[in-house]
Amino acid sequence: MTVLELTDVDTYYGNSHVLHGVSLDLAEGEVVALLGRNGAGKTTTMRSIMGVTPPRRGTITYRGEGLVGLSPNEINARGIGLVPEDRRVFPTLTVHENVVLAHKLAADPRPVEEMYDLFPVLDDLRTSRARNLSGGEQQMLSVARALVQRPSLLLLDEPTEGLAPVIVDDLQAMLHDVVSQDVTVLLSEQNVHFAFDLATRGYVIDTGSIVFEGSIEDLRERDDLLEQYLAVTPEEVA
Ligand SMILES: Nc1ncnc2c1ncn2[C@@H]1O[C@H](COP(=O)(O)OP(=O)(O)OP(=O)(O)O)[C@@H](O)[C@H]1O
Ligand SMILES: [Mg+2]
Repeated sequence: MTVLELTDVDTYYGNSHVLHGVSLDLAEGEVVALLGRNGAGKTTTMRSIMGVTPPRRGTITYRGEGLVGLSPNEINARGIGLVPEDRRVFPTLTVHENVVLAHKLAADPRPVEEMYDLFPVLDDLRTSRARNLSGGEQQMLSVARALVQRPSLLLLDEPTEGLAPVIVDDLQAMLHDVVSQDVTVLLSEQNVHFAFDLATRGYVIDTGSIVFEGSIEDLRERDDLLEQYLAVTPEEVA
């Protein structure tokens, strides 16, 4: 079953035309990577889905229902969770307060304690203010805030950005647990290793257009795309 479908989406910031006919789809339970370099349009795609920067043309359907015209809150209430690029957490609230607040806003949340089972690092930091957390810890908190709402579709916008390699490994292990649960994921990344490990299918976006769609297996063989759009050599992802 198709969970999310974008068809010919064009999105603008004012007069600046950023997404050019983006089409993509996600089936139930899939983890799909959206890959591309700086400024390619990954965040704009996420923002288009979430209703933050709605498309000017094209359609976005979630479980058969159109999303264009709904507010971000309405879209969130339908079961779509976004972990934004800038890890939006409430800096002056504690870790626990941050998770509880997200929990309260959801219609059918998961138990808060499940988040501490999933992210033991947060369990030790319950009473710490979010602003005192490291980048990696804030990223875990941001993911926990999304997951506690029991999203049916999770949008992860460059979760590894700015994290130390050892933290990226931790996050990767935790996301393996997450994706084995009942969730469909769209993962935007520049970290090709990370994305290839988690996803089974991928799209490559460049200057607002989709230039590849297919399995990660096939993408691994596309030396041209890896070098041109993802700045990795085939040996690096072999
Ligand atoms: N608020 C904005 N106003 C105007 N232009 C913007 C705005 N945000 C992004 N853009 C432009 O839109 C294009 C796509 O940006 P976007 O943030 O979607 O890329 P990205 O793939 O997420 O990049 P990154 O990997 O750096 O996060 C870029 O050319 C960017 O300069
Ligand atoms: Mg981005």
